[in-house]
Amino acid sequence: MKPIRLGIMVSGRGSNMEAILKEIDSGNLAAEVGVVISDNPTAGALNILAETKVPTLVAERSAFRDKESFEKVLIGVMIEYRVELVVLAGYMRLLGPTFIQAFSGRIINIHPSLLPAFPGLNAQRQALDYGVKVAGCTVHFVNEQMDGGRIIAQAVVPVLPNDDVDALSARILKEEHRLLPQVIGWIGEVVKMPQHTH
Ligand code: GAR
Repeated sequence: MKPIRLGIMVSGRGSNMEAILKEIDSGNLAAEVGVVISDNPTAGALNILAETKVPTLVAERSAFRDKESFEKVLIGVMIEYRVELVVLAGYMRLLGPTFIQAFSGRIINIHPSLLPAFPGLNAQRQALDYGVKVAGCTVHFVNEQMDGGRIIAQAVVPVLPNDDVDALSARILKEEHRLLPQVIGWIGEVVKMPQHTH
């Protein structure tokens, strides 16, 4: 069976990207990474990629006139590498209509909260400040709203009485690393399903 081809977008540490690569390497996930794009030249993800053969591109938004011309280049790269599913793995920039329309229904994101609660930055801090007793992560299709779009899957973790941001983030991150590869696997299965012709 043909593995689903991914285009991963990152901005930072890259642990979710690494989790995807590990699942592919260990044969647990029928996918291949066509290309990784980072909008940040100092992203930790780039150090991880340096140890691999995955094609990698750094594209800084500030190098372009406007968001549209930036996203047109991203679209061109995704097409060149025959990407079927775009995975935002800690990509911290809001995608605009140009990119979203080009890959409509084929972009997913991971976010460290139980959406629609706590979108945006510092989701774990927001959850602690609010006093919620359960937290977690969400994988969802991407629309033009920040951390918006139809939810595919969520994982729940407890918030413990003495949690600080680091402790809660680590507990959620463990679930992120499990959930994101799992959802990619599901989407890959659906894509491979035979089409009904009647
Ligand atoms: C992850 O916790 C991810 O859920 C979050 O950024 C972190 C990236 O870590 N994404 C968002 O907050 C998106 N709104 P990583 O670079 O180690 O995967």
